[in-house]
Amino acid sequence: MKVLVLNGVNLGRLGQRQPEVYGATTHAQLAEHLVGTGRGLGLDVEVRQTDSEAEMVGWLHEAASSGAAVVINPGAWSHYSYAIADAVVQVETVVEVHISNVHAREEWRHRLIISPYVIGTIMGLGLGGYDLALAHLASLR
Ligand code: DQA
Repeated sequence: MKVLVLNGVNLGRLGQRQPEVYGATTHAQLAEHLVGTGRGLGLDVEVRQTDSEAEMVGWLHEAASSGAAVVINPGAWSHYSYAIADAVVQVETVVEVHISNVHAREEWRHRLIISPYVIGTIMGLGLGGYDLALAHLASLR
């Protein structure tokens, strides 16, 4: 199974950005780790990050056309982007991940636009949430 792990806006700054919230691991380290996790689970994992909403929509269209499964952390787009939601709806298999527990944070983070259109949302479990999302996708086969 091909899996695209798609990280959105500001997640390229993992390791530097609010480490007390998001941890000390960089995006490059996370990507390497998840490719290894995928290999162990028999998944072909590719990890991407963008700060461009248009690029993220393009990647979701790619998954919709190819049938790849998606693990997505849209970052702040999660809270307001109808464009990302409209693209997510088109992808058959999507798991949403948030590193932090957004419901324990500011009120503007409580609204999650894509959550109705995904299999499930994992949040507040740190970077381990991505591994759990991959394990779930592997269990679907
Ligand atoms: C986040 C939570 C969002 O509120 C925030 O804007 C992010 C990261 C998370 O992974 O906890 O950029 O999606």
